[in-house]
Amino acid sequence: MNTTLRAILSFLLLISSFSCLSASEICRRAVCQPGEAEIQFPFRIDKLQPQSCGYPGFDLTCDTTSQTLLNLPYSGDFTVQAIEYADQEIWINDPNNCLPKRILSLNLTGSPFHSVYSEDFTFFKCSQLNYLKYHLNPIACLSDNTSTVFATNSARLISRYSSLTSCSKIGTYPVPVEWSFPQEIPSLDLGNDLRLRWDRPGCGRCVSRGGRCGFKTNSTRQVVCSNIPQRGIPRSARYAITVGVGVPAILCVLGLLCCVFGRLKSWTVRRTLLPEFNSIVAPQPAIARGLDEPTLAAYPKIVLGESRRLPKPDDNTCSICLSEYRPKETLKTIPECQHCFHANCIDEWLKLNATCPICRKSPQ
Ligand SMILES: *[C@@H]1O[C@H](CO)[C@@H](O)[C@H](O)[C@H]1NC(C)=O
Ligand SMILES: *[C@@H]1O[C@H](CO)[C@@H](O)[C@H](O)[C@H]1NC(C)=O
Ligand SMILES: *[C@@H]1O[C@H](CO)[C@@H](O)[C@H](O)[C@H]1NC(C)=O
Ligand SMILES: [Zn+2]
Repeated sequence: MNTTLRAILSFLLLISSFSCLSASEICRRAVCQPGEAEIQFPFRIDKLQPQSCGYPGFDLTCDTTSQTLLNLPYSGDFTVQAIEYADQEIWINDPNNCLPKRILSLNLTGSPFHSVYSEDFTFFKCSQLNYLKYHLNPIACLSDNTSTVFATNSARLISRYSSLTSCSKIGTYPVPVEWSFPQEIPSLDLGNDLRLRWDRPGCGRCVSRGGRCGFKTNSTRQVVCSNIPQRGIPRSARYAITVGVGVPAILCVLGLLCCVFGRLKSWTVRRTLLPEFNSIVAPQPAIARGLDEPTLAAYPKIVLGESRRLPKPDDNTCSICLSEYRPKETLKTIPECQHCFHANCIDEWLKLNATCPICRKSPQ
């Protein structure tokens, strides 16, 4: 009797050790304070989560103001702005609000991270430079009354400023930017978060399927995925997705059509009214022309990840079609003002009108 009971008990133990004794079961998510990034495997907050809940190289700390910090072996501490577990990406910034200064000494060696998009920027320090005249976006925290520092990736501008005696070249540095930059940017203040990616441990697929990633036991270094929900999307969810994607898409198209016809109409009205006023009204300024295809194709693009992380996090709606951004949509930014929109929406807009729909700044 006793032995049978023991046998049953050990059998039950065996089963439970297979199904739920993985370390990920006992690892709870943690935050430094509400509003900060939620931390789970492979990351771990030192002193809040056990050692076995984090992968080596992914340890974080909370600073005295409860910001989440990541330490890069050769570059020091950065604040963690966001983590996208499904895409295995992290966004970091400078705790002292001068990211460009940190870029000058950035070295990812010894960390598990690499850049998603890397873009070489050349830094210049210039005296007596009228940057308004040159349409430059100076780096405020590196500039002072006597000199202006700015960064550019434009070969034309690099050769131009290299030849000026009032400017000295600080150097060229690879920047892990958030966007892909198919074109040259006259100047960028480089204050936007750095976007980094990790390859190991590869928990992205597990997380995107709703599973939990973690070490198999605290004695091995083997990573396993557990608790994946039942496969297949329920019919109701599929319906919700169809509506969720389809309706905004239709609204976007309708919004565009409205916008296009609205412009056409006002243009036609102006054209038909014009002759009557010709004698009294001064000649109308030429109607602002749109941008051409090559210019549009060269604007910085981004494909949104699962968490729809944007350079400006509060700006989560396309102000052209008024629908919210969704994962995997392609967005474009106007380099001059960094406002962003659905790529399709802003392309259509800029073909008709060469100004930003939000701030009316004119590209070029
Ligand atoms: C980064 O630091 C390591 C160690 O000091 C050094 O070997 C490496 O050359 C550095 N890389 C860059 C790009 O400076
Ligand atoms: C810079 O300007 C501020 C006021 O705008 C002034 O107080 C300061 O002395 C100036 N510094 C230099 C080095 O000219
Ligand atoms: C995990 O490690 C702790 C001590 O570090 C030990 O007491 C425990 O038995 C270990 N568990 C497994 C399943 O190895
Ligand atoms: Zn704008």
